[in-house]
Amino acid sequence: MNATERVAQLREEIARHNRAYYVEDAPLIPDADYDDLVRELRALEAAHPELRRLDSVTESVGASVATTPFAPVVHAEPMLSLDNVFSLEELEAWGARSARALGTEPGAVRFAVEPKIDGLALSIVYRDGALTRAATRGDGRVGEDVTANVRTIPNVPATLADAPRRVEVRGEVFLAPEDFVALNERQRALGEREFANPRNAAAGSLRQKDPTVTASRPLSFLAYQLVGEIEGRFTTHTETLSRLAEWGFLVAPETRRVEGVAAMVERSTWFEDHRHDLAYQIDGIVIKLDDLAERARLGSTSRAPRWAIARKLPPEERTTRLVAIEVSIGRTGRATPYAVLEPVTIAGSTVALATLHNEDQVALKDVRPGDLVIVRKAGDVIPEVVGPVAEPGRRRARAWRFPQRCPECAAPLVRRAGESDTYCVNPHCPAQLLQQIVHFCSRTALDIEGFGEQRVGQLIEAGLVHDVADLFDLDPEAIASLEGLGELSARQLVAAARAARAAPLSRVLVGLGIRHVGPVAARLLARRFGDVDALASAPLEALEAVEGVGPVIAGSVHLYFREPETLERITRLKAAGLTLREGSGEAPVAATLAGRAVVVTGTVVGYSREAAEAAIQARGGTAPGSVSKKTYCVVVGEAPGAAKVRRAEELGVPRIDAGQFETLLETGAWTTTLP
Ligand code: IVH
Repeated sequence: MNATERVAQLREEIARHNRAYYVEDAPLIPDADYDDLVRELRALEAAHPELRRLDSVTESVGASVATTPFAPVVHAEPMLSLDNVFSLEELEAWGARSARALGTEPGAVRFAVEPKIDGLALSIVYRDGALTRAATRGDGRVGEDVTANVRTIPNVPATLADAPRRVEVRGEVFLAPEDFVALNERQRALGEREFANPRNAAAGSLRQKDPTVTASRPLSFLAYQLVGEIEGRFTTHTETLSRLAEWGFLVAPETRRVEGVAAMVERSTWFEDHRHDLAYQIDGIVIKLDDLAERARLGSTSRAPRWAIARKLPPEERTTRLVAIEVSIGRTGRATPYAVLEPVTIAGSTVALATLHNEDQVALKDVRPGDLVIVRKAGDVIPEVVGPVAEPGRRRARAWRFPQRCPECAAPLVRRAGESDTYCVNPHCPAQLLQQIVHFCSRTALDIEGFGEQRVGQLIEAGLVHDVADLFDLDPEAIASLEGLGELSARQLVAAARAARAAPLSRVLVGLGIRHVGPVAARLLARRFGDVDALASAPLEALEAVEGVGPVIAGSVHLYFREPETLERITRLKAAGLTLREGSGEAPVAATLAGRAVVVTGTVVGYSREAAEAAIQARGGTAPGSVSKKTYCVVVGEAPGAAKVRRAEELGVPRIDAGQFETLLETGAWTTTLP
């Protein structure tokens, strides 16, 4: 292939990846591989100037927004990208070049060294101190209007005190790693697709047509740039960051102003050493000239400023042996292939299983049982198989084929045309039933103790349970005869299930696994309609009219109660003695935390993460994913996030022991703070 052909091929490939990444939020290859493609194209364009084109992907940023459902917003100043370096030598050379261009000594240039947050860029415009418009980057010139969604992000200030007539704040929307894990747990519980990494989850959450869906996602915003009417008001970048922090924005507390190229390089290695200790996922370090006048002198290309550079950090990767590829069946019947690995330690934890997402991903990666494979944590959280390592001379197994039958019930597995997921469509598949019942009994739902995966599996196998309604009608004698169970534990199980018959309707709604209905929406609906009959017969408009319930949730609930199986199931639950009402007998909770932001980090005994957040929200508070000056207090549970605790300490936000959580909910106050 000659250079002309290769350039054309690279352009096409990069454009395809841009679309997948920016428009579909579903990247096809790891970022590092994408960077390699862009680097190769840029090298070819440099060697063959006649092949350069103004519209080449190397000259522009991101993807065109022509194909999105959001209104276009033309950025007042283009949102540029950053040029990358990968080694310390390249970084040092950039520093020295900048000094030369400014006519200064390398030891005298002042830099700001910041974390490069792995999220998506956002511009927020305030007029006369009020948030008026928020937009994604799009292609850098035209972005997408996501104002309604951004208004739901808890740590984005709605108003700014003493602000100039127009200010524009730019920064990154992201999901904190622990919020990402919790979100995926919830997605799994709701039977919805799990996200591949925090960046995709943040992008998918921000680019929702229904702001109530965005509101239910624990997004955070970190500000890194102030643009607009700032000339004359500030002389350095770090001053603008201080102003942003005063306005209530989260700015990176790890950012340092340093003098000289050597100190700048050194601070960048600090980030490399501490990348896993931060409250956010980083994929590199951004170094900027601190002096705004110097920035203006260096200027920008059409793609990126000359006054800033990103040093990209490679993801942590390990090689290990792929033992087998297996398929698991979820609550909705989705069949997900996963890799069984020889255990290996990556970024601090042992990895033995890794999702392979779907059939196409396995084919694309071409991994086969027995292969030596590269494994990494996607966004440093979820283990992911990158691909096989070539082992010359070793014979590989045949390419893996997706099983044609469900490994649990042997019914055919079905992949519909145009879809990437494969399903077991047998409504009586025991694996689906197992997951449905485990979910029904889980803490977020009816919270019935003792019904874990193993126990429920036994009950199904023994033919004692065919449906969630059977749980309330269990025969203690039959249970006592199962392996590992005696009379006492049988009685306890039966009693636990019976006691759950009085559970409020909202918990039952969560347990039924209606798409998009999590604890918050379930409570809003249950409170509004009071009992299941009123909810089931509510017209779509009435569902949509519930404050906090958007069209997506309303549509899903409406559809759910029109299915004949649903009505059958409700009839059975009623017959089993469930009350299916909200509020009966329960004292209404007081708004003890009205308008207060309470951050929970780590586990609070007796509460799942969702339950703790729901308890705070039920009392009028918010439960954001990160700590800011406005945080009322931080509840420190077991195994808390070190960064959140440290941030609270730095900002002087009270840290309280999880033992005081109940007191906090009841009274809105606590008696002692952590030392
Ligand atoms: S400054 C003109 N600072 O990285 C300079 N960007 O690869 C614009 N990013 O589009 C960006 N952390 O989405 C800047 N501390 C930081 C950043 C940061 C993450 C993102 C941003 C930008 C992309 C460029």
